[in-house]
Amino acid sequence: MIGVFDSGHGGLTVLRALHAAAPGRPFVYLGDHAAAPYGVRSEEEVFALTVRGVERLFERGCRLVILACNTASAVALRRLQRTWLPGRHPGRNVLGVLVPVVEAITRVPWVVEEPPADRLPEPRTVGVFATPRTVASGSYPREIAKRAPDVSVVQQACPELVALIEKGAPPAAIEPHVRRYVAELRAALDGRPLDAVVLGCTHYPLVADLFAQALPAGTEVLCQPGLVVRSLENYLERHPEYAPAPVPPDGALRFLTTGEAGPVADLAGRFFGRPTPFEAVRS
Ligand code: DGL
Repeated sequence: MIGVFDSGHGGLTVLRALHAAAPGRPFVYLGDHAAAPYGVRSEEEVFALTVRGVERLFERGCRLVILACNTASAVALRRLQRTWLPGRHPGRNVLGVLVPVVEAITRVPWVVEEPPADRLPEPRTVGVFATPRTVASGSYPREIAKRAPDVSVVQQACPELVALIEKGAPPAAIEPHVRRYVAELRAALDGRPLDAVVLGCTHYPLVADLFAQALPAGTEVLCQPGLVVRSLENYLERHPEYAPAPVPPDGALRFLTTGEAGPVADLAGRFFGRPTPFEAVRS
């Protein structure tokens, strides 16, 4: 099984795309609903919670875990890969959702940490909507600037969104917040056109229609789940040792939560478009 980890419901947007692309590939999803939202927590808290979540998935047999959470990817992934994984779990790996987006925007592979000599500048302005912790980490603008200094990145923190989505608030309650965040980001552009935006939190595709309505017509919205699918395919081609044996599609998904299984499953099923029989994990 490949593990997919998020603070709560958001990673289901990534899991849904992964499952649609490879229905016979086994995935186990873990939502840390008891500790969500992560985006308003300190770096140390996000790191500790992410390590614990990954450990739980390793304990259940995963050799590869995808952090389907921008906050954990931005704050904890590099540190976890450098300081924790090699000593504690050699032979296992953790991937995040930030790398595929940075590669798509810059068109430069992640391993290349500077603009390639033959790169033609492509001045563009990209907006990033994300949690306060992801914005504070500066990961998106920093990693994009290393590879494509001509791309200007404007960030907008959206502090209320994850909690509203986690509690299943109706669109009418979420829409005014989305409008305000879009207006604040556009005000920060000083009249420059916005070429593309990233919904840089895996919860936000669950309200993608509200973003689409609030953004100027024609703004490209980068699809993070789709980019993660392509990136995983590419990774598994290069590292087939992490590809689990195929299983029948109706047994390919398992859902775990640190929260209350019943209420989590009810809401998650609405987002996921099919029943999500969550089991509670206590250890
Ligand atoms: N969905 C996560 C992200 O992509 C985390 C949101 C949160 O828990 O605040 O950032």
